[in-house]
Amino acid sequence: MRSIAENDLGTPARESAKQVTLIIDGRSVSVPEGTSVMRAAALADLKIPKLCATDQLEAFGSCRLCLVQIEGMKGYPASCTTPVAEGMKVTTQNGKLAQLRRGVMELYISDHPLDCLTCPANGHCELQDMAGAVGLREVRYGYEGDNHVHKYVPGKGEANPRFVAKDESNPYFTFDPSKCIVCSRCVRACDEQQGTLALTIQGRGFDSKVSASVAESFLESECVSCGACVQACPTATLTEKSVIAKGQAEHSEITTCAYCGVGCSFRAEMRGEEIIRMVPNKDGHANHGHSCVKGRFAIGYATHKDRITKPMIRAKISDPWREVSWDDAIAYAASEFKRIQGQYGRDSVGAITSSRCTNEEVYVVQKLVRAAFGNNNVDTCARVCHSPTGYGLKQTLGESAGTQTFDSVMKADVIMVIGANPTDGHPVFASQMKRRLRQGARLIVADPRRIDLVRTPHIEAAHHLSLRPGTNVALINSIAHVVVTEGFVNEDFVRARCDLASFDKWRIFVSQERHSPEAMQDVTGVPAAEVRAAARLFASVPNAAIYYGLGVTEHSQGSTMVMGIANLAMATGNVGREGVGVNPLRGQNNVQGSCDMGSFPHELPGYRHVSDDVARGAFEAEWNVKLSPEQGLRIPNMFEAALDGEFKGLYVQGEDIAQSDPNTQHVTASLSAMECIVVQDLFLNETAKFAHVFLPGSSFLEKDGTFTNAERRISRVRKVMSPKSGVGEWEATQKLANALGYPMNYTHPSEIMDEIARLTPTFHGVSFDKIDRLGSVQWPCNDAAPEGTPLMHVDAFVRGKGRFLVTEYVPTTEKVNAKYPLILTTGRILSQYNVGAQTRRTENLAWHSEDRMEIHPHDAEVRGVVEGDWVGVTSRAGDTVMRAHLTDRVQAGVVYTTFHHPFSGANVITTDNSDWATNCPEYKVTAVEVTRVSQPSEWQKRYREFSDRQQELLRAAVTDVSVK
Ligand code: SF4
Ligand code: SF4
Ligand code: SF4
Ligand code: FES
Repeated sequence: MRSIAENDLGTPARESAKQVTLIIDGRSVSVPEGTSVMRAAALADLKIPKLCATDQLEAFGSCRLCLVQIEGMKGYPASCTTPVAEGMKVTTQNGKLAQLRRGVMELYISDHPLDCLTCPANGHCELQDMAGAVGLREVRYGYEGDNHVHKYVPGKGEANPRFVAKDESNPYFTFDPSKCIVCSRCVRACDEQQGTLALTIQGRGFDSKVSASVAESFLESECVSCGACVQACPTATLTEKSVIAKGQAEHSEITTCAYCGVGCSFRAEMRGEEIIRMVPNKDGHANHGHSCVKGRFAIGYATHKDRITKPMIRAKISDPWREVSWDDAIAYAASEFKRIQGQYGRDSVGAITSSRCTNEEVYVVQKLVRAAFGNNNVDTCARVCHSPTGYGLKQTLGESAGTQTFDSVMKADVIMVIGANPTDGHPVFASQMKRRLRQGARLIVADPRRIDLVRTPHIEAAHHLSLRPGTNVALINSIAHVVVTEGFVNEDFVRARCDLASFDKWRIFVSQERHSPEAMQDVTGVPAAEVRAAARLFASVPNAAIYYGLGVTEHSQGSTMVMGIANLAMATGNVGREGVGVNPLRGQNNVQGSCDMGSFPHELPGYRHVSDDVARGAFEAEWNVKLSPEQGLRIPNMFEAALDGEFKGLYVQGEDIAQSDPNTQHVTASLSAMECIVVQDLFLNETAKFAHVFLPGSSFLEKDGTFTNAERRISRVRKVMSPKSGVGEWEATQKLANALGYPMNYTHPSEIMDEIARLTPTFHGVSFDKIDRLGSVQWPCNDAAPEGTPLMHVDAFVRGKGRFLVTEYVPTTEKVNAKYPLILTTGRILSQYNVGAQTRRTENLAWHSEDRMEIHPHDAEVRGVVEGDWVGVTSRAGDTVMRAHLTDRVQAGVVYTTFHHPFSGANVITTDNSDWATNCPEYKVTAVEVTRVSQPSEWQKRYREFSDRQQELLRAAVTDVSVK
């Protein structure tokens, strides 16, 4: 069903330096070579009827509605499959063409239910549009006889043994085969855009039917619910349930997804302030009209009944909540922070910013800490994910960010994916990557687990380096050893672009025999021959790109591994052009932005150290306040200081540290030791159960601002509905600053961005107006690059010469032994997102309603564990219970779980170990034992009791107010 605001040009754009000029209906049109006649006509505002074509998919040429006449060409070629040619003369409308098109439409319409008035697509159906466009007035064939309708429409079809009912199994869309015109757009969308190949056309003639492969229903099939087929369908065959329930939208607004670091652009289609559906924006620079199940469908949380929309306070966490006015809540929080600072000192309070919030919201929180609290105790959830990326890339390349655009992958010859699971974590980018792999690029996967990319339809990794968790650095050193000792170093690149003294030192280091694949195979568990072959493949192609994720960073040597990756890219000359680069797949929607905005306790916005007098001076002048040059506390330091009685007040915006941070018992003990915790969130999350002030947050649909994705791309978030609490996050932070005695007087988030631009060299050229004009901007955006910087380090590294760093492998102290013989590693799943606060409040539960423990069948057998058993998982930090799932995706000796459900307590088991440079937790390596059990763990029992009590206290607050 077509989008309410997008124009469809029929076939995809072509890129070519050569322009071709032709005449269409007397108009001269110039387009790039390879463009279809249909697209050329559409660009000249000449609409040719079409059904099977759409500009999101390659032309198929099946419906024959788009016939045209071309001078000198026999017959009536399909304009969607005919490429333009120089001097071509095309006629798109005449009597004969009209007659042919009407004939085609008659056949379609005679095989259609024609229940237009009650059809959810009414007014937005392309079949309906085309019947009108060709001037259809009669259907000579009648509606009887064998056809699709009789098989699929209840009342007509039940008697027919071939009757097929609607498939309503997917929580978000229906499949009504009676309306299907078998145009195959859905099948092609699933193949070309999504790359899942879940659909097929079965049968022939009137028996032909779209089918979710071999499965009975969409829900049981390979379908990952990306919705590409729904968007592609020209009729109501595949329709969003929200459209069926609510009717069509009236207006739309472009905004950015608030889930992952891909940063997909969406058109929120609305009626009044109600969302009807989210349609991926074809002009979105990160997603080009594609999406995943979360961004397109999982938005129900925004209007979920659990949303808390009134501020609340309480003196103790055992007290019921009291709903109060915004002014009272802010006044209470400010008085508490002042009291605590008066009693325990200036450094006894701090804040945690959120990577789910906008740049502007993050910026004002760190400003509040530095200017109103008067310290630098601000940190962010990047601490627990990509802080090693910031550190490692800054040290080697000179900038704490990825080097490429997503589109760059389309020029890669070899793609190396290390410690990332793009099909689950960054699905839209994974689809693009899979497209490139289907074109012939080779794939190397380094991951302890057999992620989907290793083998997926039409794709098989050339090498899966299934290493033992915790041995990344040993592996990267052995790959580098092959590069250096087998003559694969790009000497010209290194000589021209890199610091030679550091290179020589590194070359000598990795050349040592102790780093060879043969010497390392007992450590990594990867056969030496496999490592050698992968290294040779990586180093021998023109363009090799590295993509990595939290499987790299969340280790005791996370920063070392990031440097190892940068070393490898530099040594092989794979930096500074398209198709190459070092590409951290940043987790959350704005984790890049939250780091850019100065969320770290040692860095001002733009990654300038707080001790840098010049940078600090600029902020002092603009903010009119003296700033501390002393580095503040990181999140783990805040917890330690709380337990030591020195840290007593915390403002947490949009971050659920009680669930997301490792060693839950330690975190909750720290939170319990504080005297004033202010939580700003949509829901009473796990952290809020320890809070004294609750400030209601707003969803991304309720705010204006910007997010910065994994490509450094700054995109607009636009308000499509009013904040349910009446106050946006930045306004609440501003109120708090004012109540603390530091004046803040922004009237719109664009003013905050203007201030960021004034103070941050890489953002000097950024403004809301510019982003609105260009669609998005990749930083650095300044006088040197007024429209942004898609590729970094093109002629020189940001730091000048690229610096190689020696990456000695130091095994983690988290060892397996007889008591804890297995290694637990953790990760995400497609349908849920991080702590699940949002996705657990959507229909996505249909796919993942609980976290499970993946265990190798051999490990399960020796423990007497069978599929679905409850198992206790015990580590040195704690124990929990979850259900077992037997699979050989994990290697023997390794178990794996997700962490989306608080009751699973995945982080009750993870330890306090962390990266040596950044304190990023070592989530990926925890020694555990797994045993069959029959009841929840002690922690889970306590958790349930505490949570039930907190819910009671929340209900008491609501009751109090309604009585008043
Ligand atoms: S929703 Fe996506 S994965 Fe599922 S069938 Fe449609 S295109 Fe394929
Ligand atoms: S379901 Fe829709 S897109 Fe797929 S073949 Fe039928 S009409 Fe075409
Ligand atoms: S890939 Fe990421 S940004 Fe895109 S729709 Fe999915 S969750 Fe949103
Ligand atoms: S639109 Fe060209 S053949 Fe269908």
